[in-house]
Formats: sequence, structure tokens, C-alpha cells
Amino acid sequence: MNMETFHVVNHPLIKHKLTIMREKETGSKDFRELLNEIAMLMGYEITRELPVEEIEIETPMCHATGYQISGKKLAIVPILRAGLGMVEGLQRLVPAAKVGHIGLYRDPDTHQPVEYYCKLPFEIEERYVIVCDPMLATGGSASDAITMLKKRGCTQIKLLCLVAAPEGVEKMQADHPDVEIFAASLDDYLNDHAYIIPGLGDAGDRLFGTK
Ligand code: PRP
Ligand code: URA
Repeated sequence: MNMETFHVVNHPLIKHKLTIMREKETGSKDFRELLNEIAMLMGYEITRELPVEEIEIETPMCHATGYQISGKKLAIVPILRAGLGMVEGLQRLVPAAKVGHIGLYRDPDTHQPVEYYCKLPFEIEERYVIVCDPMLATGGSASDAITMLKKRGCTQIKLLCLVAAPEGVEKMQADHPDVEIFAASLDDYLNDHAYIIPGLGDAGDRLFGTK
């Protein structure tokens, strides 16, 4: 595993909130709120290197030099369904970001991702893209989503997840060595059904109350 492109965002608030999310008794409302809160905290880290430029402004007191984000605009691309649970938290940080959607589900027998939807902002290739999905398990879904974005010309992509399995990080790094990955935790392994252990179960079902 290449630790130069894989980052565990280590923060007491993130650790605390993620632990509550992992608890099996935590219900959808809390799960949803915590996921957005963690997405916002991680979004702070992931946007740390955005370029800024100086601008001249007038405060109520005087003329001053301030800063604004410069260069490419941002796009947030959740992988449906569970990635949706991170969008609001990220949009609170960057309200002007456009949102694209990539629909993939894992075939329950083969664990391979199946594409069912793709709607991306106009001129997506001109934007910094944050792909978000709370679970990086085999890495198949994230890798396919990023391949879809690259086919449309995207060159600057980061992956934001919550819980990553070593298998998923390794697949991502093999398929997309140029894409930095940010996670709140590197978990232990995948079980026979390709679920992350200890993980938090099925993120989509817990988020939307479908099981
Ligand atoms: C989950 C999760 C990821 C994918 C991770 O989605 O949200 O998209 O599995 O697994 P992988 O790394 O092995 O591809 P799922 O297919 O369960 O769909 P859902 O979000 O609609 O429930
Ligand atoms: N998808 C999930 O929602 N959870 C896992 O542990 C693996 C894939």
C-alpha cells in the first residue's frame, strides 16, 4: 500500500463520530447526520490544497487584500446510493460546487459493480472532482466510477470514503495511481461476502432504512 496517495484523516471528532456510526443500534437519522458531519470534517482536509488568489476588497474600515479560491471549480460526485449521504456535508463547505451522480450497485453474487446511472455537470473535465462513497470494499465501484470520469476527460480526481479495506485501497492504487484517497479509517479485511470487517454493515441500507 502506497501511503503517499492514501491518507487516513486522523481527528478525534471523526474517530468519535465514526464509532457511533459503527454501532449496530445507531438508527438512520443519527447515521445520516453523522455521515454528513464527517464528510464536512474530511472535506476541510481534502480541500486544503486548493489554490487561492489575492483580491482587493473594502472592509467597513479600509481597503484590504483578501483571498478567493482560484483556478478550476469543484464537482462533487457521489456513487449512488450511499455516497449521497456525504453530499450535503461537502456542499456546506463549497456551496458553489456542482454535483454529478454515478449509479453503481454491487452484484450480490459476483461482488462486481453494475452501472445504472451517470449524470455529470457540464464541462466536468474542467473541474476538480471529489468522488464520494462511504465504503471502499473491493474497490470495484470506486475504480469503475473513476474510469467513467476519466473517459469523460477528468484529470484531477480525489476519492473520499469513510471506511476503507486494504483490498480496496490496493485495487484503487493499481488501477488509478494518480488518484489520492482519503478515508476516516483503514479497517482490517473483507469477509466472504466482500463486506468490510469491522466496518459498519451496509451503508446504503443504514442510511436509507431499507433493511
Ligand atoms: C456499496 C458502497 C459502495 C460499494 C463498495 O454500495 O456504497 O458503492 O458497495 O463496494 P466495492 O468497493 O466492493 O465496490 P452498494 O453496491 O451496496 O449499493 P448501494 O449504495 O446502493 O446500497
Ligand atoms: N458495501 C457496504 O455498504 N458495506 C460493506 O462493508 C461493503 C460494501
